[in-house]
Amino acid sequence: GAERTRITVVGTGYLGATHAICMAILGYDVLGVDVDPGKVDRLAHGDVPFFEPGLPEKLAEAQATGRIRFTTDFDEAADFGEVHFICVGTPQKPDSYAADLRYVQSAVRELASRIHGDALIVGKSTVPVGTAADLAELADEVSPEDARIEVAWNPEFLREGFAVDDTLHPDRLVFGVASERAEATLRDVFSPIVDEGVPVLVTDIPTAELVKVAANSFLATKISYINAMAEVCEATGADVDSLSAALGLDDRIGSRFLKPGLGFGGGCLPKDIRAFRARAEELGVGDAVAFLAEVDAINIRRRTRTVDLIRELVGGDLSGKRVAALGAAFKPNSDDVRDAPALDVARLLYLEGAHVTVYDPEANANAHRAYPDLDYAESLDGAVVDADVVALLTEWSEFREASPEALEQAGAHPRMVDARDVLDQEAYVAAGWEFRALGRPAPQSVGVAARVPAH
Ligand code: UDX
Repeated sequence: GAERTRITVVGTGYLGATHAICMAILGYDVLGVDVDPGKVDRLAHGDVPFFEPGLPEKLAEAQATGRIRFTTDFDEAADFGEVHFICVGTPQKPDSYAADLRYVQSAVRELASRIHGDALIVGKSTVPVGTAADLAELADEVSPEDARIEVAWNPEFLREGFAVDDTLHPDRLVFGVASERAEATLRDVFSPIVDEGVPVLVTDIPTAELVKVAANSFLATKISYINAMAEVCEATGADVDSLSAALGLDDRIGSRFLKPGLGFGGGCLPKDIRAFRARAEELGVGDAVAFLAEVDAINIRRRTRTVDLIRELVGGDLSGKRVAALGAAFKPNSDDVRDAPALDVARLLYLEGAHVTVYDPEANANAHRAYPDLDYAESLDGAVVDADVVALLTEWSEFREASPEALEQAGAHPRMVDARDVLDQEAYVAAGWEFRALGRPAPQSVGVAARVPAH
């Protein structure tokens, strides 16, 4: 009916498309806005332009109710929405570590310059602390005289691969507001989620902006911590998987995000820790987060270490050697290759003269666009034909489930580098493979392989 709050969502990329679709599922009338007519057209035709399990079904469900539409027209958007969510990207600038804010700025400018009457603009994009205040000023500057625009911040913590679930059932909601009115509006919009018992934290706006980068920095630090321990393990013959299991059983530490391996990538963690450093330096508190440079460096070293292991297994020189690179996406169940550790390893191998054949169950097309010089195979079997060494770089279940026998039958030489620490080392060794994993002792140097308890 006419009572439903009308919501616009500016930006229909990963975050925006998911948010728009979920808001329609919750019963709102939603208008998704994007400057890219191609994206708008695909979404309008029920086609999600990226890989996200469950999201196409939710889009179909939302479209069946008639509650969601997509447009490139900001006049329509400004006119339609009572609450406007800003979900555009804040990528790393090409020439520095700072976040590029031009998309959030232009989203607010386009919208605010067309708004009449009351409106709440809610930022969801990940931004450097202080951005919301600048955007409020910008909105004030460009908006018509009869506009009363308020800005609030509601950071988004969704993970790719779990986007729908994370949106509809988040661990917490953070409302960064400057007035009771904005708080009341956000409580109302999110009431279907709040009513399920999800904790709400109402904060000032800078705190809300900071929560997101602080959370992602913590997660990145946790991963780099265990990967730093992996480096120590490699120098001592200790086993980082057993170490991680033992650490994780301490409730104060916890086992999540303590999985060692090739490290973190994607569209968030790497750029967020860099943008945080850049912003902290601007604020004169660079020292407080200087450790994030180390977190970044540890993460990048996992890639060169993986290349070292692969080079070792083929006798010390990669040139002319054939490497099957299993995985390109930054994590399994995603087609996202932004800052993907797997592709970076493939690139480094290629630079050393190796003949690299990449196979990823979902990300081949995106990887090919990013690195057209590498070879791509249509299947796992196709990738390992004649491979001098096989490298598992993204832990897709297809790779975990492949047997050493099957890989050899498909034409691989029996040499495996497991950069994600997910394969059954004993099974590979028993099948006659030379096997190396990050942070684990080479098989011949251990009597009985350490066993990691299931958890
Ligand atoms: C992340 C945050 O989790 C999310 O809250 C935020 O909103 C956006 O950034 P996402 O980028 O989708 O989400 O990926 P996530 O599942 O968190 O994984 C991040 C990276 O860390 C991946 O490259 C993954 O392979 C790596 N990782 C994760 C590890 O190497 N070890 C771990 O133990 C966990």
